[in-house]
Amino acid sequence: MSIIVLNKINKIYGEGDIAVHALRDVDLELQKGIFYSIIGKSGSGKSTLLHILGALDQPTSGEMLLEGKSVYESSADEQALLRRRRIGFVFQSYNLLPEHTALENILMPSHLDGVQPDENHLKEIVDVLEIGDKLTSFPDELSGGQAQRVAIARALITKPAILLADEPTGNLDEASGRDVLKLIKEFQTRLGQTIVLVTHDLEIAAMADTIIEIQDGRIQSIS
Ligand SMILES: Nc1ncnc2c1ncn2[C@@H]1O[C@H](COP(=O)(O)OP(=O)(O)O)[C@@H](O)[C@H]1O
Ligand SMILES: [Mg+2]
Repeated sequence: MSIIVLNKINKIYGEGDIAVHALRDVDLELQKGIFYSIIGKSGSGKSTLLHILGALDQPTSGEMLLEGKSVYESSADEQALLRRRRIGFVFQSYNLLPEHTALENILMPSHLDGVQPDENHLKEIVDVLEIGDKLTSFPDELSGGQAQRVAIARALITKPAILLADEPTGNLDEASGRDVLKLIKEFQTRLGQTIVLVTHDLEIAAMADTIIEIQDGRIQSIS
């Protein structure tokens, strides 16, 4: 069953001489419960594609269906709810709120929705990510790797149907990176999550069910 369908997605940043055609006629169908990795050179359009999949950004042209519903025909409020309830996003630059502690950041999506977080789920995530002693720290007191793990925890806490992660192990050592991947795969199986993970680490990419290669804004191969 497909969970996301992209039809002829184009994304152009800027205009005229400085226009950058970041995505070109991208057609993509993502199946529920499958783990995808996206690989490609720097500047090939990986983050742009992931932001569009997360309804964080709109393309210049094209159509997107999320769970059968047209995203761009939905109101801004409906899109915000989709993002909060159905999608977990790990930003390449973490995007933690500086005025809030690590724990407050992790629980923010649940609080915004007025739902009680699942304590056991929280404990499991915090244990595997080894951030138990950092929960009262503020983002500027965390190392890059710690901030990255807090950002991963925030994306996982709501048990989203779709987890989108932009280079989520980019700042982690090899062993922590592998632990994060194991956790993600465990949730994929247990919760039936669809995962899309951008990485330039081919070993990590190979842990996915399907590898999507992108080159100059086009999908080069799906294997
Ligand atoms: N906000 C932006 N404004 C202008 N150009 C951008 C913007 N974001 C990305 N780009 C350009 O779009 C292309 C694809 O970028 P990106 O999706 O970030 O690639 P990747 O994540 O694969 O490194 C690059 O040429 C980049 O410079
Ligand atoms: Mg990127």
